[in-house]
Amino acid sequence: MDNPSHGRHCSPPRLVHLVASAVLFLCVAVTPAASHHGGGPDTGVHRNFLVIVRRPYEYDTNLYKNVSSWHASLLASVCDMAKEAMDKDPASVTRLLYSYRNVVNGFSARLTSEELEEMSTKDWFANAFPEQTYHLMTTHTPKMLGLMGGEGRDGEGVWNTSNMGEGIIIGVLDDGIYAGHPSFDDAGMKPPPEKWNGRCDFNNTVCNNKLIGARSFFESAKWKWKGLDDPVLPINEGQHGTHTSSTAAGAFVPGANISGNGVGTAAGMAPRAHIAFYQVCFEQKGCDRDDILAAIDDAIEDGVDILSLSLGGTAGADFSEDPVSLGGYTAALNGVFVSTAAGNIGPNPATLANGAPWLLTVGASTTDRRFAATVKLGSDDELDGESLSEPKDYGKEMRPLVRDVGDGKCTSESVLTAQNITGKIIICESGGVISTAKAKIVLKAGGFGMIIVAPEVFGPVIVPRPHVLPTVQVPYVAGQKIKAYIQDEREAKASLLFKGTELDTPRSPMMAPFSSRGPNVESRGILKPDIIGPGVNVLAGVPGVVEMVLEPNAEMPKFDIKSGTSMSCPHLSGIAALLKNAHPTWSSASIKSALMTTAETNDNTKKPISDVDGTQATYFATGAGHVNPKKAMDPGLVYNLTAADYIPYLCGLNYTDQQVNSIIHPEPPVSCDKLPNLEQKDLNYPSITIMVDKADTVVNASRAVTNVGVASSTYKVEVEVPKSVTVEVLPEELTFKELEEVLNYTVSVKTASVPDGAIEGQLKWVSKKHVVRSPILIIPGTGEDYDTTAEFFVCKPCMFPSD
Ligand SMILES: *[C@@H]1O[C@H](CO)[C@@H](O)[C@H](O)[C@H]1NC(C)=O
Ligand SMILES: *[C@@H]1O[C@H](CO)[C@@H](O)[C@H](O)[C@H]1NC(C)=O
Ligand SMILES: *[C@@H]1O[C@H](CO)[C@@H](O)[C@H](O)[C@H]1NC(C)=O
Ligand SMILES: *[C@@H]1O[C@H](CO)[C@@H](O)[C@H](O)[C@H]1NC(C)=O
Ligand SMILES: *[C@@H]1O[C@H](CO)[C@@H](O)[C@H](O)[C@H]1NC(C)=O
Ligand SMILES: *[C@@H]1O[C@H](CO)[C@@H](O)[C@H](O)[C@H]1NC(C)=O
Ligand SMILES: *[C@@H]1O[C@H](CO)[C@@H](O)[C@H](O)[C@H]1NC(C)=O
Ligand SMILES: *[C@@H]1O[C@H](CO)[C@@H](O)[C@H](O)[C@H]1NC(C)=O
Ligand SMILES: *[C@@H]1O[C@H](CO)[C@@H](O)[C@H](O)[C@H]1NC(C)=O
Repeated sequence: MDNPSHGRHCSPPRLVHLVASAVLFLCVAVTPAASHHGGGPDTGVHRNFLVIVRRPYEYDTNLYKNVSSWHASLLASVCDMAKEAMDKDPASVTRLLYSYRNVVNGFSARLTSEELEEMSTKDWFANAFPEQTYHLMTTHTPKMLGLMGGEGRDGEGVWNTSNMGEGIIIGVLDDGIYAGHPSFDDAGMKPPPEKWNGRCDFNNTVCNNKLIGARSFFESAKWKWKGLDDPVLPINEGQHGTHTSSTAAGAFVPGANISGNGVGTAAGMAPRAHIAFYQVCFEQKGCDRDDILAAIDDAIEDGVDILSLSLGGTAGADFSEDPVSLGGYTAALNGVFVSTAAGNIGPNPATLANGAPWLLTVGASTTDRRFAATVKLGSDDELDGESLSEPKDYGKEMRPLVRDVGDGKCTSESVLTAQNITGKIIICESGGVISTAKAKIVLKAGGFGMIIVAPEVFGPVIVPRPHVLPTVQVPYVAGQKIKAYIQDEREAKASLLFKGTELDTPRSPMMAPFSSRGPNVESRGILKPDIIGPGVNVLAGVPGVVEMVLEPNAEMPKFDIKSGTSMSCPHLSGIAALLKNAHPTWSSASIKSALMTTAETNDNTKKPISDVDGTQATYFATGAGHVNPKKAMDPGLVYNLTAADYIPYLCGLNYTDQQVNSIIHPEPPVSCDKLPNLEQKDLNYPSITIMVDKADTVVNASRAVTNVGVASSTYKVEVEVPKSVTVEVLPEELTFKELEEVLNYTVSVKTASVPDGAIEGQLKWVSKKHVVRSPILIIPGTGEDYDTTAEFFVCKPCMFPSD
């Protein structure tokens, strides 16, 4: 029998009492036992579906008060029991999970397969998608957790007395928020702007002028993940959501640190912006598609300016089925800037999520901060690593150094005990269990200290965690040297040296190994990710540190380091808030353009940003480059787009009318036959991607730039491409007379042969004051049927002739 507490959440409690028997027995039945009461079409298993309604059936406002009562009537037409309940009270149809108003023309409902079949014969029915789970973009193992904090990249001189994001509302969809965190203190915050129309479902006192809204969306999730309600609801204390929210817009908190490291004043990118929190994800489980859609539906009406979505589905999801692109389009239509995470399943190609051109897709890179620690061997060799596990009174003396004689990963206490590691330092490979669990095993077995070897794919990147015994985490290469030393030396010994927080690490930023890479499977003609930002070892607020072992009476730390594109996304959300504050009339596309055309392509050693294997990172990893907030405030020119401009682009992608109309809802429906279809290369995007499928061809791409810099200004074009291609730009000079003036240009790309890999170049419009840079990517093929295993998409030389 269905738990009545579920019913309580399906409809307002008042209604449950009134119509309990009808609703619970007839329309909410989920178990076979309960379905006996229903009979007819109500037998069988109910599953959650997103039902897309065909466009011509705009509801009759004389008949239905609102879109929800109309959707209820559509549902009732296939579910007799629902009809019965609805006749009594239309709002009581608990089978209707969500009725969407903005993001999509449809609803989410619980249906049996028979009902679905019957529904599919209705002329109003367009499509139904079974429930689907999306994921937060932090890696689940603490392998990828790390640090950045207080100072670092924050602000970079953008902040001033009139702009720290004041008056901007950032909507964060995530797994929960710890409202009592000092990052959400509202000292000095003004009340939200008048347009704010959202609400706070915490107890009255919890929301304030910083955290202005908090809601939870779980109507769909609760049916597939039993036991979600109760202690965790209405809103969890989310690890992930507290971290992302405080990264985007956390207040200044002095003395932030993790295990005494990285001490500094923590702050989000826009410390005076407001946060509206929408819980759509559940730790360990994920985020339900229909709950995500419902949250975006409401956030748009609530009046958020920015949506920060550190979540996503699989690479190459169809834009018409994906909640982030469906909701993101409607958000863009309403002037809401949408920042999304690219995903954490790199470094393989074609792993990227959230590839729609109306979204900002953010990859992750390292920061220049390390928690330095060194392993000093008996041979006097020193191998650098990182550590968050510095013991209080730690002597520098050498101790015996051994390796795990079991699987090498230090996963078995009995093996280590038999080996007798008492008083020794042991080296452990990655894998098996998380490193903090290894530390506990090693400690129990009597070990003195631990060296953890990072996976090879991480290159020099280390994501340190606090461990229960002295631990240094070293890169794979260093680990191999230590192991070779143990092999060769009968009496191997080592000491662990802890050096504390170091800044200005050379070759920063560097690509994060896990950051998902292009090409953008769903739209290969649009380069993604758009940009990269800090996403490795980012220090931000948490309810408490996972796996932290505290001394008695010690206070649980409220800051921790985490890694993922989930962490880089809210950096860009916060920076977009600063841009929006400074330029309230700019469109979302213009803000994105400003971020992209001013991004850095070099690291702090003035060399091109590198990947973890030491090679130059490709555009499929970095997009336009690493965000530079200060330059983005004043980009000179922008590539502007309206939401409607994406329609001919979608037609050009060969989407069906139904798919296009599903995405652009609530814009009036279109028919692609009657529109000029736009090729991807001609979308007025800040990066330029050219596909070449024939030898000896010229491909033209057109662009339009809007002057937002100096009213009277002249820009000259500079193009850098490898010798194998010729690029001509017409005109070569753009002379603006006023602000907001729009001028067009054409890029003609000539290639002698079809390239056998991606060719990278760049185009810059240069004036006295500004450099407006677009990456140029030239790839083989037509854009159809991307084979994700095709090796030739891995960019090989990727060098500018000038390097
Ligand atoms: C929609 O209309 C129904 C009555 O037809 C009402 O019960 C319900 O509260 C309305 N919903 C909204 C969101 O206004
Ligand atoms: C703050 O920065 C914005 C944008 O960069 C600028 O327009 C404004 O004049 C600055 N205000 C002050 C007080 O410096
Ligand atoms: C909200 O307030 C009620 C009544 O005071 C209390 O029972 C409940 O535990 C509170 N909930 C939270 C999340 O603080
Ligand atoms: C383990 O090694 C330590 C130090 O080398 C030694 O004192 C101890 O007796 C050994 N224990 C066993 C059970 O062999
Ligand atoms: C580090 O954080 C702890 C709380 O976790 C705090 O008690 C301590 O004062 C902080 N250290 C510094 C140097 O600010
Ligand atoms: C871009 O286009 C939008 C919509 O037409 C317009 O409101 C905006 O002023 C334009 N310019 C900029 C810089 O965003
Ligand atoms: C769309 O279809 C046309 C005609 O079949 C084809 O030439 C074009 O390459 C297709 N575009 C994409 C992006 O698949
Ligand atoms: C490409 O642009 C050049 C220069 O603007 C023009 O001469 C040529 O006709 C164009 N070619 C195509 C295929 O549109
Ligand atoms: C720029 O191109 C657009 C269409 O792509 C056209 O409508 C507009 O008139 C052009 N502007 C100028 C100044 O040529």
